[in-house]
Amino acid sequence: MPADVPALPTAELHVHIEGTLEPELAFRLAERNGVRLRHAGLEELRRAYSFSDLPSFLDLYYELTAVLLQPRDFTDLAEAYLATAAAQGVRHAEVFVDPQAHLGRGVPLEVVLDGLAEAFRTAEERHGLSARLIVSFLRDRDPAEAEALVPRLRPWHDVVIGVGLDSAEVGFPPEPFARAYALAADDGLHRVAHAGEEGPPEYVVGALDRLGVERIDHGIRSLEAPALVARLAEEQIGLTVCPLSNVALRCVDDLADHPLRRMLQAGLRATVNSDDPAYFGGYLHDNTAAVTRALGLTADERRVLAENSFRTSFLPEPEQARHLAELAATGA
Ligand code: ADE
Ligand code: ZN
Repeated sequence: MPADVPALPTAELHVHIEGTLEPELAFRLAERNGVRLRHAGLEELRRAYSFSDLPSFLDLYYELTAVLLQPRDFTDLAEAYLATAAAQGVRHAEVFVDPQAHLGRGVPLEVVLDGLAEAFRTAEERHGLSARLIVSFLRDRDPAEAEALVPRLRPWHDVVIGVGLDSAEVGFPPEPFARAYALAADDGLHRVAHAGEEGPPEYVVGALDRLGVERIDHGIRSLEAPALVARLAEEQIGLTVCPLSNVALRCVDDLADHPLRRMLQAGLRATVNSDDPAYFGGYLHDNTAAVTRALGLTADERRVLAENSFRTSFLPEPEQARHLAELAATGA
């Protein structure tokens, strides 16, 4: 972890649990489960972590889920993330999971959610951070699957607090998922969606207007639409920005061109997050430190990012206040 930029207490609001699968753990689980990976070894797998766009990354991301078969695989995956996140200053995490990616290869929902819940329910005692799940619908699959999934989440509502929308974005606008989101709202779940990562600003508008989302994941392409920027600023919609991901997936050419600072200057409620840290070169603080160096973010800007993370989280107000007080006490 970089030492020159201090790690502030922060909430992580955009990380995919499947995207925290480090190559070492992938091979360990492959061996435990008798799964053969097509990569000969760690070095070859690491070399495969080079992407031209979102779909090229998703191919490997879905391929490696093959090693996750038993509840304890999901528990081990979550434990590894929680330990690393805690060491990077994360005090609260709202973590995506893609159940359809597992159901589609014959792994039951109970295996996925019981396995993750085992780690999430004890995160506070074991790692000193609170952790909740957001079930993401795959936008490149039939929305009827998403609608069927919503009532099946009820046994896990103590840990599953919301729904999201991810996977290949271009060509898959949010509107067809309106019914799934309405069902989730009826069940008391929070709603977020990836939009404006590779896809156009219209997808951000669609997610807000038709899905009723409370925050937007990525949203960087919103800057192309001044009226949308004004609306996001006015309504203080949280944007979960993932700098290293944007460069790795070539949504942004170089970290020095990243729009994060422009977003802050436009009055947008941006936060920094890791997205798929095992694939993109770093966890939450690695992202903050890298973007700080590339853009020359000030200590004030970093404090605002950390404040935004708690204010944008789905933590109850008193919990947010407790974290904000801890942040203020650091003198940042
Ligand atoms: N699933 C995992 N990471 C993703 C990302 N960055 N965008 C869309 N879907 C994803
Ligand atoms: Zn994401």
